[in-house]
Amino acid sequence: MCGIVGYVGDASRTLDVLLGGLSNLEYRGYDSAGVAVGGDELHVEKRAGELDALEARLSDADVAFEGPVGVGHTRWSTHGPPTDANAHPHTDETGRVAVVHNGIVENYRALRDELEADGVTFGSETDTEVVPHLIARELRRGLDPETAIREAITRLEGSYALVVAVAGVDALFAARRDPPLVLGIGDGEYFVASDVPAFLEHTRDVVYLDDDEFVRLDHGGWTVTGTDGRRVEKDVRTVSWEAEQTGKSGYEHYMLKEIHEQPRSLRQCLSGRVDELGGRVVVDELDGLGTPASVQFVACGTSYHAALYGARLLRAGGIPATAHYAHEYATAPAPVTGEDLVIGLTQSGETADTLRALRKGAGRGAETLALTNVVGSTVTRECDHVIYLRAGPELGVAATKTFTSQLVGVNLLAAHLADGGGGRQRDLVSALRGLPDQVQAILDGSAASAVIEEFADSETFFFLGRGFDYPVALEGALKFKEITYEHAEGFAAGELKHGPLALVTADTPVFAVVTGDDEAARKTIGNVKEVEARDAPVVVVTDGVAEASRYADHVLKVPATDGRLAPLLANVQLQLVAYHMAAGLDRSIDKPRHLAKSVTVE
Ligand code: AGP
Ligand code: GLU
Repeated sequence: MCGIVGYVGDASRTLDVLLGGLSNLEYRGYDSAGVAVGGDELHVEKRAGELDALEARLSDADVAFEGPVGVGHTRWSTHGPPTDANAHPHTDETGRVAVVHNGIVENYRALRDELEADGVTFGSETDTEVVPHLIARELRRGLDPETAIREAITRLEGSYALVVAVAGVDALFAARRDPPLVLGIGDGEYFVASDVPAFLEHTRDVVYLDDDEFVRLDHGGWTVTGTDGRRVEKDVRTVSWEAEQTGKSGYEHYMLKEIHEQPRSLRQCLSGRVDELGGRVVVDELDGLGTPASVQFVACGTSYHAALYGARLLRAGGIPATAHYAHEYATAPAPVTGEDLVIGLTQSGETADTLRALRKGAGRGAETLALTNVVGSTVTRECDHVIYLRAGPELGVAATKTFTSQLVGVNLLAAHLADGGGGRQRDLVSALRGLPDQVQAILDGSAASAVIEEFADSETFFFLGRGFDYPVALEGALKFKEITYEHAEGFAAGELKHGPLALVTADTPVFAVVTGDDEAARKTIGNVKEVEARDAPVVVVTDGVAEASRYADHVLKVPATDGRLAPLLANVQLQLVAYHMAAGLDRSIDKPRHLAKSVTVE
């Protein structure tokens, strides 16, 4: 995730347009920023930190950042920490080609080796930097800029939205596969950006690009072509100010936007980590990590629910594993030795309790591993190993897309450990590959908003699950209470009879998560019957395998998949339940009362 903006037009306006656009896109990424502006020569400036660090630097610059073309970028790092050198734009060695990129070049290692063998010197740790060097090599071979860029793109595997400027060429070139790009058609000036807010103050006429399309923007206009070079006819649409003027891409809340981003965030999380042909999981970050004697997860809140799920997953693969609240563990750590692994799950990478628990583990000699979403966060500097979730910035306080990426992350880890580093799990790999489309199907057809309508006056809600569905029941209740401010409790379904059942009445809706058709699912159906007998309204979240819907008042259906992954799909339904309930109650969804996104005190 990052923000890209490109401009072709009035030379004196270029820098202002780029900086204004980047500031409207900062919600997409904010760990570093940069611009390239020019004509016969390209001037590049880039800085780690938020946009004002770049602006301060530009105000001291001794060259005029003027020229008819320009590109800008706010980065959300995936490869290499947020430093000045890693910020975009990236250039070739002569500074003739400048590139901004959103996505991941999966084969960058091989391309970098190839270019270095050719004598190219790299200036950053990013995957992106291979792109300007590839283009420069084609230019040196005598190709014209457009053909050189097209040639270079054919070498890329992975995902990209790219915008390229070439010194001496009064045009911009752009291409996409997966991450978004949209053109803005102005009066004698043209824009290309990751999202419409980047240029909305200048034009409302937009062209949405599709995968594998290539664009040339110059002062005479714009053309879109396919990979075969043939012209593609595109519709120009006029967007409404209301729908697009915030960084929420038309969604009313960041939380809803982030829920809808999950097909993409899951693809990003899996990118380059599953080899479908070989049926293997390949997590480069774990090279050198052998199978530990035991694993202890430490985490808080939503991340703790992912930890519970992860511990169960590892145990199912034969590795002793436990999950601990980080704050409890910090005061009374479980015994560990150098043979054990302590894993911190923390999307922000800054949660004080989790950092402290990890330090306790490390202090007793254990190896440490972090699963986090934020490159360069404290946890990444302190742990021996790091797996990045690559979910993109999550601004809603309620964690959604980072939770589903955590569930995928622990599956990748479990597959890696279970096979002594081989990660050969054909069924899991094909199920993981199918997840993004299955999440999309849920988002397209969920009945959650209709189902919760009849519960508008209820004040207590229960969430039940067993086995892999148990952490998801807990997470369903946490999300619900966090943003609706209604009382919600998650239980292990088997615990119901040991106390909570006393509270179940006709006024307490019960959400039961039932996936698969194993012993756990069948026993949960037994619990569903028990609450039904106490007149509680029952909503079953299910893949339908165990016919749980026969005992429910309402059903929220999820597609069938591998038993380990079905709870992730059920969670998406419960995210929507919480969101629609809170929206109906007019709550402050993105910033719920008393809560903060990153809890940096113990
Ligand atoms: C989730 O919706 C909450 N905002 C909260 O429970 C959160 O998961 C917890 O504070 C842990 O945060 P972390 O993942 O950044 O460590
Ligand atoms: N993979 C690139 C990097 O780490 C692009 C990240 C982004 O999309 O901002 O620099």
